[in-house]
Amino acid sequence: MSAIDKLLGRMTLAEKLGQLTMTSASYAVTGPVIAGDSTDSIRDGTLGNLLNLVGAKHVHEMQRIAVEESRLRIPLLIGFDVIHGHRTIFPVPLAEAATFDPRVWELTAREAARETAADGLAMTFAPMLDVSRDLRWGRTVEGPGEDPWLAEQIARAKVRGFQGADLAQHDSVAATAKHFCAYGPVAGGRDYASVDISERTLREVHLPAFAAAVRAGVAAIMPAFTELGGIPLTMHRPLLRDYLRGELKFDGVIVSDYNAIRELIQHGVAGDIVEAAVLALRAGVDIDMMAEAYRKGLPVALERGLVTMDEIDECVLRVLRLKERLGLFDDPYRRGASAETPDVVAARRRLARDVAAKSLVLAKNSAGTLPLDAKVRRVSVIGPLADAWREMRGPWAAAGYEEPSVTTLAGLNEALPHAAVSHAEGVPIVGTNVSGIAAAVEAVSGADVVVLCLGEAAEMSGEAASRAFPELPGEQRKLAEAVLDRARRDDVRVVAVLFCGRPLIVPWLAERVDALLIAWFPGTEAGNAIADVLTGRVSPSGRTPITWPRALGQIPIFYSQRNSGRPENPSDHFTSKYLDSPNAPLFPFGFGLTYGRFAYANMTVSPETATLEDVIEVSVDVTNEGGRAAEETVFLFTRDRVACVARPTLELKGVTKISLLPGETGTARLRLPASDLRFLGLDLEPVHEPGEIEIHVGPCADLGQLVSSRVMVRA
Ligand code: BGC
Repeated sequence: MSAIDKLLGRMTLAEKLGQLTMTSASYAVTGPVIAGDSTDSIRDGTLGNLLNLVGAKHVHEMQRIAVEESRLRIPLLIGFDVIHGHRTIFPVPLAEAATFDPRVWELTAREAARETAADGLAMTFAPMLDVSRDLRWGRTVEGPGEDPWLAEQIARAKVRGFQGADLAQHDSVAATAKHFCAYGPVAGGRDYASVDISERTLREVHLPAFAAAVRAGVAAIMPAFTELGGIPLTMHRPLLRDYLRGELKFDGVIVSDYNAIRELIQHGVAGDIVEAAVLALRAGVDIDMMAEAYRKGLPVALERGLVTMDEIDECVLRVLRLKERLGLFDDPYRRGASAETPDVVAARRRLARDVAAKSLVLAKNSAGTLPLDAKVRRVSVIGPLADAWREMRGPWAAAGYEEPSVTTLAGLNEALPHAAVSHAEGVPIVGTNVSGIAAAVEAVSGADVVVLCLGEAAEMSGEAASRAFPELPGEQRKLAEAVLDRARRDDVRVVAVLFCGRPLIVPWLAERVDALLIAWFPGTEAGNAIADVLTGRVSPSGRTPITWPRALGQIPIFYSQRNSGRPENPSDHFTSKYLDSPNAPLFPFGFGLTYGRFAYANMTVSPETATLEDVIEVSVDVTNEGGRAAEETVFLFTRDRVACVARPTLELKGVTKISLLPGETGTARLRLPASDLRFLGLDLEPVHEPGEIEIHVGPCADLGQLVSSRVMVRA
């Protein structure tokens, strides 16, 4: 009998339910009652897990109470939302997705894990893996964007990064893949709303990233708040028990979302807290976060015979095993035992700058507006986001260092010591005050260039931050139009830098400015990274991981649509299109310019006939015909034109990057395992169908820009 089994044998019901409960502590509170009323529960063994507590000193004090003063001396599991860095804030997840670089995703998770662990914590509620094709949904910012293949790559890299080589290491933390699953397609893009999608979309789009996380060994999974076709995920037996535990053999911990078990009552599937607790437990939810449903409901349920002690024990064992894997029984103080050295902190800051620069997407650059001429002497930095340091961090940066993040104004001042960099706010981010527009317009005259910093406030994306009008808020358009009018009159170039947690609908802005840099929310080093790209110290390489629509009515818009029986044909009325908008997006998935200019030639595919076991090697020569060194991101898409079920017109299957000097040619090579060409057949089981597969390679999901070939797949 293992030590954990023996321990279970000694536990009272109240102690068992304590291990199945997670309660929030307010981390701003200092002193011995950090966990508020929880301190007593920790001491009497009826609370085993906390969230929202940071600082090694506080965490260790709580652990001390648990392991020295409670009867069974079981250490606490303490988790925190480390969404894009813990103290050092990296770009928001959607921005990081734009790097299309698994090393970046893993490295930032590793560094975030180190900072989290240095704070004494052993668990994070990340990565968020919900694919989003509706930018009205505020939580788009927390996730991987629109593509399931991309989401899978991010899932693997993040789990590796957070958990390290061994969960017991002093700098590893348990990752939580969330929110399982299909949280993104909430009706109308409204957070927490109903979701109703086909079984095929569920399996093809929303499950793969979670399956990848499980295969990578993710320690925990959090069900989504939402319901799917009427069944809340918190009680979804087919998905939690049959799919996760059964099909994927996931034996880690399932932790509910905040108060989600109690919300089963509001959903309309439980009459009271007892029923709610029963539904969640029987579906396999191990930890009740913040609902008090297990501690209050399960004793009654047990008495009424609605659950068995074996069912409760099964959950307790999973929680104890996770604590064991994290090394908490051996040494509950191993995380946060020593402070990080200044060198480590400084190196992390450099990483934050580097990653932020890589996540910026250059969406327009007419007539070589960027990089800025080395001779610029007068730069006008205009707009409400030019010097707003808190906004730079983006949403969900709860424990970020209090010191200001670098703003665009500060970054440009630093990068251009010989230039006069002036600032005019113009208008606030939201609100109707336009009194600053006149001064902003005056600041255009005489400038060599205007850098117009526009966008959303950080809190306008994230949880409970859906927007029905995902455009520039407040009077920013008025400011931009006035600045652009004056700039046109005075022949001054305007570079717009757009801060946002989702694509914004700004076709007019893209049309009118000379250059457009999508900055998302770049984090602690925002302004330095932006200045690096604007001045050409770094050549931009980010690519949008989500399609940018030109009109609200195009939502949901994503590149991997099916052809339909009447694909768009401008000369045929009865085809799939709008009367009042093109179908084409403003910027397609994968789009982003560099300071180079790339041409593709000589595509080869080998072998030309492949079996399921083969790995297809695709190569293409890429030449930098531009005047500057740059890194090109090369995407590989496939299309299966004739299959037993209609397949998308493009499906992402691979990405690589190639750095080239001006005039240089290199060969980009991508590997496509033929087994990746399997898909779910008529009965939703994977099939491998012989036949021709088109292979398209190039800079983004726009067929017109891709070079194409094909491979024959044999049975
Ligand atoms: C969010 C989760 C988060 C949890 C704990 C919830 O409101 O949906 O993503 O992990 O709170 O903070």
